[in-house]
Amino acid sequence: MSRNTANAIVPQGAIQDPETAIWTGPPAPARRPERSIVLVGMPGAGKTSIGRRLALRLGLPFLDADAEIEAAAGLPITDIFARYGEAHFRDGERRVIARLLAGPPLVLATGGGAFVDARTRDAIRASGAVSVWLQCRMATLLKRVAGREHRPMFLNADPAEVLERLMAARHPLYAEADIVIACSDESPEVTTRRVQQAVEGWQPPARLSVPLGERGYDILVGEGLLARAGALLAPVLPARRVVVVSDEVVGPLHLPVLRAGLAETGTAILAEITIPAGEASKSLAQVQHLLERMLGAGADRRTAVLALGGGVVGDLAGFAAAIALRGLPFVQLPTTLLAQVDSSVGGKTGVNLALGKNLVGAFHQPRLVLADTGTLGTLPVRELRAGYAEVAKHGLLAGERLWRWCEAHGPALVEGDREALVTAVLESCRLKASVVAGDEREETEEGGRALLNLGHTFGHALEAECGYGGMLLHGEAVGVGLGLAASLSARLGHCSQELPGRVIAHLQACGMPARIGDLPRRFSAAALLGRMRKDKKAREGMLRFVLLRGPGDAFTAGDVPPEAVERLLLDEGCDG
Ligand SMILES: NC(=O)c1ccc[n+]([C@@H]2O[C@H](COP(=O)([O-])OP(=O)(O)OC[C@H]3O[C@@H](n4cnc5c(N)ncnc54)[C@H](O)[C@@H]3O)[C@@H](O)[C@H]2O)c1
Repeated sequence: MSRNTANAIVPQGAIQDPETAIWTGPPAPARRPERSIVLVGMPGAGKTSIGRRLALRLGLPFLDADAEIEAAAGLPITDIFARYGEAHFRDGERRVIARLLAGPPLVLATGGGAFVDARTRDAIRASGAVSVWLQCRMATLLKRVAGREHRPMFLNADPAEVLERLMAARHPLYAEADIVIACSDESPEVTTRRVQQAVEGWQPPARLSVPLGERGYDILVGEGLLARAGALLAPVLPARRVVVVSDEVVGPLHLPVLRAGLAETGTAILAEITIPAGEASKSLAQVQHLLERMLGAGADRRTAVLALGGGVVGDLAGFAAAIALRGLPFVQLPTTLLAQVDSSVGGKTGVNLALGKNLVGAFHQPRLVLADTGTLGTLPVRELRAGYAEVAKHGLLAGERLWRWCEAHGPALVEGDREALVTAVLESCRLKASVVAGDEREETEEGGRALLNLGHTFGHALEAECGYGGMLLHGEAVGVGLGLAASLSARLGHCSQELPGRVIAHLQACGMPARIGDLPRRFSAAALLGRMRKDKKAREGMLRFVLLRGPGDAFTAGDVPPEAVERLLLDEGCDG
C-alpha cells in the first residue's frame, strides 16, 4: 500500500478523492475517541475551523494552542516573539501543548511552527495523541491568507514567496504526523468529515520494546509500515540521510514504496545497494563492496544503514554498519517471515567463512525494527514455511500457551492468514526481546540467549552438508533440527515420549520437513557429527545441545554422549 498524499486521506490504507467526496447530510453520531487529536499544518490550512467542526462531531472539547498560550502569558503572540524571542516562545508553547494533552481527550489546533519543533513533536507523540497534518496546496493557502498580511511573517514580503519558503522547510516535518489529509478547495464540512473518518480508522502499529538501556529500541509490527518509513524513522535517526541495502529480488518489489515513504520526510537516500539474493552474499567480499559503496556515496557517522530484505541482507548490512566508521546507526526492515520473527531482533550481525556460518560478526543493535507484514505477501510459500520453523521454535521455548497457539494456527499461517502472521511476529518478537534483554551478548553460561539455538546444532550441520545453495533453507534445517532435538530429549529421558511426535506432526502439518527422512538426499551420521563438533557453540570438542523438558522448559546440555546422537541419526536413516 503506498501513501498517496496528493489527494488522499491517509490513515493506513484509506484513500479518498476529495473531488468525488459527497456531502451526505448531517454528521453521524460519533464514537467518542479515546485519544486527543492534534491538528498541524501551515497558516491558512484550516486548523481552527476544521478543529472546531471536528470537535463538535466527536463530542470533544476544542482548544486552540495559540489562544491558550496568549492567555497563559497575558500577551499576544506577536508581543511574546518581539519581547522574548522565538526560542522562549517555543519552550512555552511546548509546555502548554504537553499540559493540554495530559488531560482528557480534546481536539487541539496548533500554531504553524509548533510541529516544526522537534521537542514539541516528541511531546505530542509521547502524549499518545494522534497528529493530523492538513496538507494544503499553495494556491489554496494563498487564497486563505489573503487579508492576513498584517501577520508578522507577511509584513513587507510577497506572501507567495513566504509560503513557498515555509512549505519547503516545514512539509518534511509535518509529514511525521500520523495522518496526512490532502485538502483542496472543498468545503470545511467535507474536509472535517474526511478527517473524522481517517481518525476513526487509524490504528497505531503494534509496538514492542527491546529494553537494552541506551541500546534499547522498538519493534513496530503492522501492514503498510514501509510506506510510512520516513515518519516512523525520523524520531530515531540522527539525520535524514540513509543508505539502503537490499537484494535483487526484494529491491524491485519493495524499494519503490520505501523510497516514497522516505521522500515524504525529505530523508535523502545516498545510495541504494543491491546484492545478489541468497546465502552466498553473506561474505567478506560483499562486506567490502558495501563499505566501499556506502562510504564512496558520502555516508558519515550520522548516516543510517537501512537493511531491506531477509536475514541475509540484515546480517550483512548490519555487519557493514557495525564496522563502517566504527559503527553507523542501523535499521532493520525485514521482509521474510524468518527475519521478522527472528533475525532482525537482537543485534547479531555477521557473515560466513568457507570454514562455517556466521564465524565473523559483531553485536550491533538496530535503532528500530519495522516489520511490515504486508511485504510477506510476495514471499514464496517455501520461504514462508521455512520462516515458520523459528515461530514453532519460539512456541516451544515460550511454553504451552504459545505452543498450543502454533498447533492451532500454524497451518493457516503458512497458507498466508494475515491475522495469524501478525500474531506470530508479535509473539515471536516478544519472546526474543525478553531473552535478548536478559543476555544481550550470549554470555549466560546456562540458558539465556543460547536457548534460542534450540534445533540449531542439528540444523546448522544439515545446512552445512547441503552447501547453502538453496537445496535446504535455513528454516527447513531448523525444522528438522527441532524434530531431532525433541527426539534426543525424549531418548535421554528429559521429556515425555509424546513430545517428539507432537513436534514432528505439527511441522509436517505445516508442510515442512521435520525428520531427516523428509529431506531429498541422504546424510552420513559421521559427517553430521563432525560438523556438530565444529559448531560455534561446541566447547573443547564436546557437543552442546539445547534440549527440552517440555514446552517452556528448555536447557543447554554440554554433556550429551556422542553415541546417543549417533544412534539417533542412524535410527533416522542416516548412513553409518
Ligand atoms: N542474526 C540473527 O540473529 C539470525 C537469526 C536467524 C537467522 N539468521 C540468518 O538469516 C539468514 C536466512 O534469512 P532468510 O531466511 O530471510 O533468507 P534470505 O534473506 O536469503 O531470504 C530468502 C529469499 O527470499 C527472498 N525474499 C526476501 N523477502 C522477500 C519478499 N518479501 N518477497 C519475495 N522474496 C523475498 C530473498 O531474495 C531470498 O531469495 C541466514 O543467513 C541465517 O544465518 C540470522
